[in-house]
Order: sequence, then structure tokens, then C-alpha cells
Amino acid sequence: MRIVWGPEYELGILVIDRQHKRIVDYINELDRLVGQPDARLGVDRVLYDLVDYTESHFDFEEALMERAGYRGLEEHHRLHRQFTFHIESLRQRHRQGEDVAEALLQTLQKWLLNHILEEDGAYRDEIRDFIDSIGRERLGGWVNDTVRKHFRVT
Ligand SMILES: [Fe+2]
Repeated sequence: MRIVWGPEYELGILVIDRQHKRIVDYINELDRLVGQPDARLGVDRVLYDLVDYTESHFDFEEALMERAGYRGLEEHHRLHRQFTFHIESLRQRHRQGEDVAEALLQTLQKWLLNHILEEDGAYRDEIRDFIDSIGRERLGGWVNDTVRKHFRVT
């Protein structure tokens, strides 16, 4: 089922929301690919982009948490690592010739619902308060530098 990004997925932290929106793009791309005879190449592309994206996004998110002094950082880092391992194991199966489109789609759908809505939701207020306290403008330079540092393409 296609997903349309909407306010219900937003944390209200613009830079993070923009990054999270990419997951919905991958979900929709996989949704299109599942069951297609020539899905393999498309899945290959999604996996490649997804690995690159999650690495950059997790690093950015964790850098922001650290900057804000968020106490749940270590636990959150553990969740990110778990997801990374899971995606890596799907990538291995894909390399061995298995069709993982459906499994990958389900993984991302679950990630959107459990991680982005619940586990990321847990840091939302604290990070938003932090941003408000030091001021969006003052943090802007740090955000831009950190995005540039972690993302090849934004
Ligand atoms: Fe996260």
C-alpha cells in the first residue's frame, strides 16, 4: 500500500522530518516493485540508497541528540544499530539471489510506525525545547555543517 507523507509522521523538527520523508519514498518504491518480474535491479538501488541514507541520517540524529545532551542517546543508538544489522542481513540475502522486496518493504513499514512514530517521538519534546532554547537561527549554522558532514547528497 502506498503511503502519503503527512503531518501525522512529522516530529516538528524540520531537518529530521525532511530526512524521515525519504523512508516513505523507499516504501513506495518497494511497494511498486513487489511482485514485478524485474524487481531485482530496483531493489538493488533501494538497498544501496537506503544503506547510505540510514548511515547519514542516524549519524545526524545522534549528533543532534548529543548536542542537546539527550540522555536516551545510548539506547537510541542501540536501536539504530539493530536496524542497520537487520538491513545488512537483508542485503546479504539479496546478494545471494533471494527476492527480499516484500521483507524489506515490511521492515521499512514497521520502522516507520515503531521507530519514527514511537522511539523518535520519545526525543521530540526534549530536542524541540533544546532548539527553542538556543534559537533556530543560532543552531542553523551547526545544522547545516552537520548535514554537510554526514550526507553526501541532501
Ligand atoms: Fe531514530
